[in-house]
Amino acid sequence: MKYVVANIKMNKSYDEMKSYLMGMATRFSNDKVDLTIAMPYTYISLGKFLLEESAIRVGGQNLSEDEEGKSTGEISGRMLRSSGAENVIIGHSERRKRFKEDGKSINLKIKSALKNRLNIILCIGESASENKLGKRSEVIREQIESAFKGLYENELDNILIAYEPIWAIGTGVTPSAKEIGAVVKEIRKIISDDFSTTAGEKMRVLYGGSVNGKSIGQIKNVKGVDGFLVGGACLDGGEFLQILNNL
Ligand code: PGA
Repeated sequence: MKYVVANIKMNKSYDEMKSYLMGMATRFSNDKVDLTIAMPYTYISLGKFLLEESAIRVGGQNLSEDEEGKSTGEISGRMLRSSGAENVIIGHSERRKRFKEDGKSINLKIKSALKNRLNIILCIGESASENKLGKRSEVIREQIESAFKGLYENELDNILIAYEPIWAIGTGVTPSAKEIGAVVKEIRKIISDDFSTTAGEKMRVLYGGSVNGKSIGQIKNVKGVDGFLVGGACLDGGEFLQILNNL
C-alpha cells in the first residue's frame, strides 16, 4: 500500500473545493493507494459529506495544542475529528517557520491528536543552509525526538513521518533517489534506537517536496518510501489523478 497525502494548503474557494472533491470522489480508484486530502478547516465537513462514499480520507493541516476553551481562533482535535477528519498534518515547515511551532508545541499537538483518535502525518526536514552545513541528520533526529517525547511505542501505529526537505518544497528541486533512500534509513534508525527495531521497521515514511508528474518517476520506487505528500501538484485534479494512477 502507498500512502498519499494531498496538502491543499490555503488554496481554493468553497465552490472550487466542492468541484475538486466531487471530481476526486468519482474519478479516484486505485486500491493500492491510501489517499488523504488534507484541507482547510472550513472545508472539513464538506469533505466528509462529499467523500463519504469514496475511499478517500479527510485530513486537516494543523490543530491546536489545547483541548478546548480560551483559544480564540484555534481549532481543536476534537473539532476536527467530530467534523469528519481522520488524519491531520502536524509540524509542516511552513507552520514551524511562520508560526514558530517548536518541538514542544508539536509534541503537544501530537498528544492532542492521539487523544482525539486522529492519525498523524508528522512533517520533518532540514533547511537549505542546514543541509549545506551537513546538519541534516542532527536536525532530523532532534525533530523526531522532540515530537515523540513521552509517547508509547503502540502510539506510533497512528503516525506517519513525512520527510520534506524545506529546500525541495515548491521549488521543483528534489533530492536524488539515493539521498531520499538514505534519509529514510536514518529515520528508521532513530525510531529503532528510541523505541524498538520493530517500531523502526513498521514506521511508515513518506517523501514530500516537489512531487509532481515529472519527478514521481524517479522517486516512486525508492526503497523504504511508503508514499508521498503532494502540495502544488495536487491542486489540479486531472494532474493529480495521473500521478496517483501511476503509483
Ligand atoms: P510541494 O509542497 O509539493 O508544492 O513542494 C509539499 C508540501 O509543502 O507539503
